[in-house]
Amino acid sequence: MSNASGIESVAVVGAGLMGSGIAESVAVAGFPVVLRDVDEVSVGRARDRIESSFTRAVAGGKLDAGQAGLARERIELTTDLEAIAGADLVIEAVPENLDLKLEVMRAIDRAAEDDCVIGSNTSSIPIAELAQAVHVPERVLGLHFFAPVPVMRLVEIVVALDTSASTLTRATAFVEELGKSAIETKDRSGFIVNMLLIPYLMAAVRMYAEGFASREDIDAGMKLGCGHPMGPLTLCDFIGLDVVYAISDSLVEEFKAHEYAPPPLLKRMVASGRLGRKSGRGFYEYE
Ligand code: CAA
Repeated sequence: MSNASGIESVAVVGAGLMGSGIAESVAVAGFPVVLRDVDEVSVGRARDRIESSFTRAVAGGKLDAGQAGLARERIELTTDLEAIAGADLVIEAVPENLDLKLEVMRAIDRAAEDDCVIGSNTSSIPIAELAQAVHVPERVLGLHFFAPVPVMRLVEIVVALDTSASTLTRATAFVEELGKSAIETKDRSGFIVNMLLIPYLMAAVRMYAEGFASREDIDAGMKLGCGHPMGPLTLCDFIGLDVVYAISDSLVEEFKAHEYAPPPLLKRMVASGRLGRKSGRGFYEYE
């Protein structure tokens, strides 16, 4: 093995926004990657998403056309879960639903090699719980990426009760090999970033729900006043209101503290399918 992590090939299970972004970053860093989803429609969407991201990266001068072409060739899109066998690292990135994630972890455990590292991209489910679905929980840890993955440099490494020192060392080295920065956190709801981000986002939603200020002014306040790239309501739409709601709910469940509670408006928006950018409407409307 030539690199410090000993990871030479990767598989990502779940080809949504996060999974396809993770696979793209892995391929750009030079690793072959299998990206798996359940059906051809999901796989096709992932292909389009990755393609338009490569176009953006080339337009922005981040990659030249040759590098983008080589990275594209390193990505194998598939619906076959058996294709993950042989990967040194498998990253689970399916939707944020406990039963689904447990089922996928069990399937990964059956299909993958015994010595591979298994990372979950969950933002709200205890890694300890997911690790129990795998027969060697020492190999499991959280690898929490940020959207848009090809642009955001951070990965939170979540160390669960059973995670072994060698799993942590390999995963940390791998994040560096990806050209990203790792921060280490314990297995506690919110980790580091969402523990800080979610109370801020919930405060913005409450401010809007109470009619204290317009959505535009709340966003402009933080964008222009504090230099954030996006205002909080635009950021909620970007992350997905269902995802924000799930993280918020998991923080309330974990800490029983009001400051994390999702305001009633957020629950109603999720119930009515206003999930943000991905569904065409959230706090704002999208094409
Ligand atoms: N690949 C590589 N680079 C890319 C790219 C791609 N596909 N797309 C864009 N870029 C680069 C651009 O070239 C540009 O680089 P420079 O600044 O060096 O010129 C930079 O990324 C910004 O891109 P754009 O100028 O095209 O776009 P923008 O200015 O509208 O920024 C944004 C878009 C990066 C999304 C920015 O608005 C942003 O940073 N928003 C905040 C995102 C954020 O907070 N994410 C975290 C969400 S929380 C989460 O994910 C975790 C969770 O658990 C909820």
